[in-house]
Amino acid sequence: MEFLIKNSHTLTNQKTECLVITIDSGKKQSDIVNEIDELTHGMISQLIKSGDISGELGKTTLLYPCIAGFTQKLLLVGCGKCKEFDFSKAKKVIQNVVKELVAKNIKSITWDLLTVNTAYSSIIAKQLPQIVNDITYHFDLFKTEKAPKLNLAKVNLIYGDKEQTQSISCNLQQGKIIADAILATKTLANMPSNICNAQYLAEQGKLLDKTYESLKTTCLGEKELAKLNMNAYLAVGRGSQNESIMTVIEYNGAKDKKAQPIVLVGKGLTFDSGGLSIKPAASMDEMKYDMCGAATVYGVMQAVAELNLPINVVGVMAGCENMPDGNAYRPGDILTTMSGTTVEVINTDAEGRLVLCDTLTYVERFNPKAVIDIATLTGACIVALGHHYTGVMGNDEKLVTQLVHASNKADDKAWALPMDNDFQDQIKSTCADIVNAGGRDGGTITAACFLSRFTQKYHWAHLDIAGTAWKSGANKGATGRPVAMLIQYLLDQ
Ligand code: BES
Ligand code: MN
Ligand code: ZN
Repeated sequence: MEFLIKNSHTLTNQKTECLVITIDSGKKQSDIVNEIDELTHGMISQLIKSGDISGELGKTTLLYPCIAGFTQKLLLVGCGKCKEFDFSKAKKVIQNVVKELVAKNIKSITWDLLTVNTAYSSIIAKQLPQIVNDITYHFDLFKTEKAPKLNLAKVNLIYGDKEQTQSISCNLQQGKIIADAILATKTLANMPSNICNAQYLAEQGKLLDKTYESLKTTCLGEKELAKLNMNAYLAVGRGSQNESIMTVIEYNGAKDKKAQPIVLVGKGLTFDSGGLSIKPAASMDEMKYDMCGAATVYGVMQAVAELNLPINVVGVMAGCENMPDGNAYRPGDILTTMSGTTVEVINTDAEGRLVLCDTLTYVERFNPKAVIDIATLTGACIVALGHHYTGVMGNDEKLVTQLVHASNKADDKAWALPMDNDFQDQIKSTCADIVNAGGRDGGTITAACFLSRFTQKYHWAHLDIAGTAWKSGANKGATGRPVAMLIQYLLDQ
């Protein structure tokens, strides 16, 4: 789908299939509406007078004006009071308009959406492609009967202010790249574990390398991981028939090729059964989403390449599968991590931190400016923040603040949790340096405390996306979070 900004004060003479016009709920309509009203011999004002249209927020009315010289369809949509029109109201309007366009199979539109309240034009332009993708995306790869397709190919948005057109257009194009990245993340994350294993993640990484000149992908299998002493990572995958593979995607966009990169590390448990500390059957299917951190890295790296960002970024997908087996690691085992720190395994279901700790040690070699890990790490995070906020922790207050700020800007909410030394006592071990599970209380924070033992050499933040990466129930599926927040963070750099 193509999104375009047209510098224009009027919708007349637009050669599209359908004109989409926003109607104010107050007495006064915009010049754009008045002009169309005149052209249609007062059709709109008559409909307002008769009460058939009211400008009620999100309400749509499709008209087929049979008037000589007027070839377009007219889709009227209520926007409430223009002056109160903000981003959340725009979201509702966009959702309803797109639903109508899908139902009527409309292929091209011209819309005055960005002119309703210019204070919000930039943010609406940036979010528009994301909202459109969000309601039209269906994971129907494995369905015999596919969902109805959106045939909308062209969205023209008019904007009156010539000076600002350039920057609005830039926002729109960025929004399109972000929307596509979210889509890529969703599709990868929704793949079932019998198809999407660590090998599959590696292949997707290689495909990115093939598509983008600026990306370089390297894969490390079990042999390589063993050579690096990544024993905690390997222990988790030992019960699985699928090989553990760490996929590294490098992007060099900075003028100074040696500039310190921002490193993203994604938990890529393609299935988490819990291992010998096996999970209950209910909802175990959802543990195919335990690779959403890796899928996030995948989407963000695609966007980084698309945006040609002038920075260096490294994305790591830590692919692995946690299964029970005669060869699986056990509770009570003591593992020597790549860093030398020893870990007593209390619970084989606390596997994410074991895979991540070695990966976090591995990335020291990139001399990172900052490291951000993204992981569906703890059920406790859902208890703490529900499905609304991603949890943010780290060893660098500035980095944490920047991430929360980016999350607000991107409408991809995140909330900082405390992580002071008081919590570290919970991961003391009697026979090793630390245990891998710190008990029920403050589980999200003690998991972060565990990771903090491996991130002392750089600025680090940890995103717990257990509550935000996917939805359960009737709308089961990956959300593509926190791709938008991370791209915003990188754009801000
Ligand atoms: N992948 C899970 C966390 C999870 C569970 C995310 C449910 C979303 C929904 C993780 O590997 C896990 O099992 N964590 C344990 C840790 C515990 C054993 C210390 C948990 O949260 O119960
Ligand atoms: Mn687990
Ligand atoms: Zn897990």
